Amino acid sequence: MQLPDANSPSLHLSHPTESEKTAILTLNSKSWGTALALPDYLDRETHMTTVPDLTRNDGLTYFVLVDKNSMPDSRLILGSLETTRKRALIARNGQVWEVISHAIGSVFCNPEYRGKGYAGRMLRELGPVLNKWQTDEKVDGRKECAFSILYSDIGKKYYAKFGWMPFPSTHISFPPSPATNGASTNGHINDAQVATTLKDADIEALCALDEQYIRKELVQAKDGKTHVALVPDYAQMKWHALREDFMTARLFSKSPTIRGAISGTAGNRVWALWTRSFYGPLDSIESGNMLHFLRLVIEDEKDVAGNVKKLRDIVKIAQKEAAEWKLTGVEIWNPTPVVKEILSKLDVEHSEVERDEHSIPCLLWYGEDSVDDLVWVGNEKFGWV
Ligand SMILES: CC(C)(COP(=O)(O)OP(=O)(O)OC[C@H]1O[C@@H](n2cnc3c(N)ncnc32)[C@H](O)[C@@H]1OP(=O)(O)O)[C@@H](O)C(=O)NCCC(=O)NCCS
Repeated sequence: MQLPDANSPSLHLSHPTESEKTAILTLNSKSWGTALALPDYLDRETHMTTVPDLTRNDGLTYFVLVDKNSMPDSRLILGSLETTRKRALIARNGQVWEVISHAIGSVFCNPEYRGKGYAGRMLRELGPVLNKWQTDEKVDGRKECAFSILYSDIGKKYYAKFGWMPFPSTHISFPPSPATNGASTNGHINDAQVATTLKDADIEALCALDEQYIRKELVQAKDGKTHVALVPDYAQMKWHALREDFMTARLFSKSPTIRGAISGTAGNRVWALWTRSFYGPLDSIESGNMLHFLRLVIEDEKDVAGNVKKLRDIVKIAQKEAAEWKLTGVEIWNPTPVVKEILSKLDVEHSEVERDEHSIPCLLWYGEDSVDDLVWVGNEKFGWV
């Protein structure tokens, strides 16, 4: 079969038909679907297109690299990916405004066509397209797409060639741990431990509060640099919850009710929202199945004894949940310096890891200032797709 040159002017970005989508997913299930049987993986991907305010309607877009002269459903799919539109904030010298960002996922090339530059061509085409994609001058918050992101599983160099520059990719890792000292996950733990589990009904209000906090933090960021943040809103958390519900229903025939934990009183609370991520077979350490903190909020972010205790109690519940759901650990991505100080005092076994291969947050900045001067605030797991 004669394959086109990756630089050919007849190649362009298009959108797949339904049957092309199924063909793409069937092929890429070998990369991302190994925790599930193929029909379940296909079901999950359909299910994830229905998340209110995120992927439903036009929130999710599939792109393919194809020859513009060939017909849909009979053309070669030379590359594929998907993008999810997300709310984001930009801050400069005390001014904060809302924009959109697109998060790219599932960058894929048919194994038969790899190494010929097709994924590279697709990404070169995509960068400028996303700069205007789904922007709308008439809609507040949608006037501008200020940046696009992806989470590279192939190291820090490949995507940088096309402008998506790597950002910090450290995490703190805790082992799973079954319940001890009477710890229970159905409310208060015991007299000494005061953390309470968070359920679905608690999440929306906490996300709204978190958005207020992050806006305030951005207003106060007056270091001459541009600060960017994805909004840790309810839609983001719902996406992760629906995904973990789907996975756990297929893998365990039940789904979790505990979405995180909280400790303290208003103004002094610490809370974490989390998700259980399944990438491969249960009981295989190589799968890297993990309980991820989606977002950690410390209302009074100071390295004080009260916060150490609150976070310790929350981490212990997370470790118990990790053990219960056969996960290989608990991860907190990119903790702030204060959170790192607090974590160092937890007296709970943990390690700090710098990822250099998987889940590297990468960002393509459409602004005029240098991406090197950009600060990505709240670069935590909730933004991942
Ligand atoms: C990654 C992928 C999309 C590249 O597609 P492709 O069309 O072969 O890419 P290109 O021909 O444009 O570029 C090939 C480059 O990708 C690099 N690459 C491919 N897989 C890689 C990996 N696992 N780790 C590091 N680099 C990788 C090659 O080394 C090569 O580098 P070079 O340009 O310096 O020679 C394809 O290998 C694929 O679908 N892999 C499986 C799914 C996946 O891992 N996707 C990425 C998720 S972040």
